[in-house]
Amino acid sequence: MSETAPPVTMDTIVSLCRRRGFVFPSSEIYGGLGSTYDYGHYGVLTKNNIRSLWFRAMVQERDDIVALDSAIILNPRVWEASGHVAGFTDPLVDCRTCKLRFRADQLELARCGRKPSKRPGETPDCDLTEPRQFNLMFETQVGALQDESSTAFLRPETAQGIFINFKNVAQLARRKPPFGIAQVGKSFRNEITPGNFLFRVREFEQMEMEFFVPPADATQWFDYWLDQRLGWHRSLGLREINLRVREHDEGERSHYSSATSDIEYLYPIGWQELEGVANRGDYDLTQHTQHSGTKLEWIDPDGNRYTPHVIEPAVSIERIFVALLCDAYHEEIVGDRERVVLRLHPQVAPVKAAILPLVPRDDGMATRARTLYEELRRHHVVEHDDSGQIGRRYRRQDEIGTPWAFTVDDQTLEDETVTVRDRDSLAQERLPIGGVREWLDDALQRDCS
Ligand code: GAP
Repeated sequence: MSETAPPVTMDTIVSLCRRRGFVFPSSEIYGGLGSTYDYGHYGVLTKNNIRSLWFRAMVQERDDIVALDSAIILNPRVWEASGHVAGFTDPLVDCRTCKLRFRADQLELARCGRKPSKRPGETPDCDLTEPRQFNLMFETQVGALQDESSTAFLRPETAQGIFINFKNVAQLARRKPPFGIAQVGKSFRNEITPGNFLFRVREFEQMEMEFFVPPADATQWFDYWLDQRLGWHRSLGLREINLRVREHDEGERSHYSSATSDIEYLYPIGWQELEGVANRGDYDLTQHTQHSGTKLEWIDPDGNRYTPHVIEPAVSIERIFVALLCDAYHEEIVGDRERVVLRLHPQVAPVKAAILPLVPRDDGMATRARTLYEELRRHHVVEHDDSGQIGRRYRRQDEIGTPWAFTVDDQTLEDETVTVRDRDSLAQERLPIGGVREWLDDALQRDCS
């Protein structure tokens, strides 16, 4: 087996996602809608796996974090208090010549709309407006009346839904700082320059956790969460050489942050933020206390009051999804044939195993394969495939990252054993058909620890 290709490009990943039904451009029959995507079957399964692995690490396996699912449309005063109405902006310039819009702080990365395309401002023909601040929140109207009082926003982050519920959760969850509240859900940002596939989209699924701590312990918890989150990304199989931590300097930090570090991944477009870990201090609880008149503070058993500080790890499923596919993608020569293989971690892989009758028209093989499939699918996402040559079926499963294939063949009819083929090593071994379920349970358990 030998590798054939240079490092993967974003176009290669886009094309695999389309070819194998992970992700499609949205509204395609109407010409699409820039940078919005729909997920097909394997995309949905992969996203579900990422979400549940995050939830398991952040909530299920801990005593100190509880879950929340807050509304997407909140009282608009939430966004005044949080600073998003005034400050959640990017500087924007328009070009009167090519009619495109650019982020003023990223002109060196942008290309204008003319042919040959140039960097905006590069030629005398470019006619750029002065930068103006553009708010990234999507506005909507609540109720039948369309006036200023009905204006609301689609949330640009899930975090604020957590802060405004601090009192409810602290009272009812029987937790004291340090404790966390975790939430997964859609966030929306009217990005000026979305792009690079799912990396920067206008609608994405965030996984955020706000960890409330005594103020004196904030730095220690910041270091702890940075370390934990880096370890989690490694545990999904992202390679060490493609991960790094970058600390924000003061000018780069968000309005609420007193320290932020990005966990960066080496995407095909270069090192970029995968997940952010921020020390938000007491900014949010203080702002909501002032704006709502409800005290969001902690009172300890001795009656001492304080506003907890907040450490926040925040990431989107989309950024993890792209990183995982880029990391897992390999082209290699096996024998004299080329194969594309997604070496996804078994916990992330959309399908855990394929069940393949070697000769589908043979009744004995077909029946045994179908029976095995029906047993396994009660416990795991597995696929039964009886169309086409066996080599083609293996290749199909390799491309969607299925870790194992169980093949029912002639020998099965004699001794009730099947072969199991390993996606990565291509090694094959035989095992009793009655032991496949346990073998698969063990293999998945082994790869989970
Ligand atoms: N609550 C803090 C917050 O929202 P952020 O750095 O703006 O901080 C957190 O976003 C994470 O959300 C990022 O690290 C990234 O994983 C993801 N994210 C942000 N904007 C995104 C976009 N337009 N498309 C996909 N993911 C995005």
